Amino acid sequence: MNKYVVTGGAGFIGSAIVRGLLREGSGRVSVIDNLFSGNERNLDEVRGQVDFHRADIRNFDEIAPLVRGADVVFHEAAIPSVPRSIEDPVPSHDVNINGTFNVLRAAAEGGAGRVVYAASSSAYGDSLVLPKVETMTPKPKSPYALQKLAGEYYASVFASCFKLETVCLRYFNVYGPRQDPSSQYSGVLSLFIKSILTGTAPAIFGDGEQSRDFTFVDDVVQLNLKAARAPGVAGKVFNGGNGGRITLNQAWALLQKFEGKTIPALHGAPRAGDVHDSQADTTAAAAELGYAPKYSFEEGLRLTLEWYRQNQRSAVLGG
Ligand code: UD1
Repeated sequence: MNKYVVTGGAGFIGSAIVRGLLREGSGRVSVIDNLFSGNERNLDEVRGQVDFHRADIRNFDEIAPLVRGADVVFHEAAIPSVPRSIEDPVPSHDVNINGTFNVLRAAAEGGAGRVVYAASSSAYGDSLVLPKVETMTPKPKSPYALQKLAGEYYASVFASCFKLETVCLRYFNVYGPRQDPSSQYSGVLSLFIKSILTGTAPAIFGDGEQSRDFTFVDDVVQLNLKAARAPGVAGKVFNGGNGGRITLNQAWALLQKFEGKTIPALHGAPRAGDVHDSQADTTAAAAELGYAPKYSFEEGLRLTLEWYRQNQRSAVLGG
């Protein structure tokens, strides 16, 4: 029986990976989460099937015994958000760089089979060329982008120096059910959905013509499961995107259409550290991992909206 460890397994993406692993039914799943931004509610339906450990990746001694002997470690624990990392860079540095080092070290010393690392498309920065290909020189524009890139570099060095198999997946703006809309640092689509359901105007930083390759969380789960098993990919980096590109204005227009509402957005100044456009070239992930995203933006957004309507109504409405 395989042993899987998911750091950040009570978070939005981590808990989706946990459910994906359980659906496959091929092993035991341990979750490591300090519940800083994760929430045990995300694991409600599967709580009896996972080993949950409230532990912090900043503490090597705490996590080393939990990681020991894992076949695959999915490293999702992080303090996300570009603006948060600019306003308060110390905690994200500590978690995203030092914590990642601890996870890699615990995996290497504990004889883990592979670490699949949640890297970020923010590493590409603002170069004008689209789509972004893994061979481009990274140009991080924010502490968050640099921290996630440092994690990638550490992963590939652990692969070359310590024979730990690592695979890095550069996520492109993941969205879907369970993304937490409660903070100013939340992903923009979760905030937009909260706005449409509460009938309030969303804030759009800039003219709204910036674009993102929004990627539905179930596609990211598929990518992770494939990256956990693909042969011959140790030390490599892959884009984890949908391959498309949607502007914020288009996303808000679609939500208004779904709900039959007209609510003009409130436009403010562009956000510091923001990248203007982002789009993944998924050729390498398709060829080497067998990745094939299944959800169009419209489908994914509709599913997400429905989930919030069904499951989070009181939370979204603040009741
Ligand atoms: C970045 C990364 C992404 C990573 C995420 C982690 C890029 C291209 N993407 O996302 O891979 O997973 O950090 O946090 O760097 N916005 C508004 N109004 C709001 C909130 C946001 O207009 O209320 C705008 C932002 O200015 C930005 C876009 O929406 O232009 C997306 O923002 P956000 O959802 O925070 O994600 P990124 O910073 O793009």
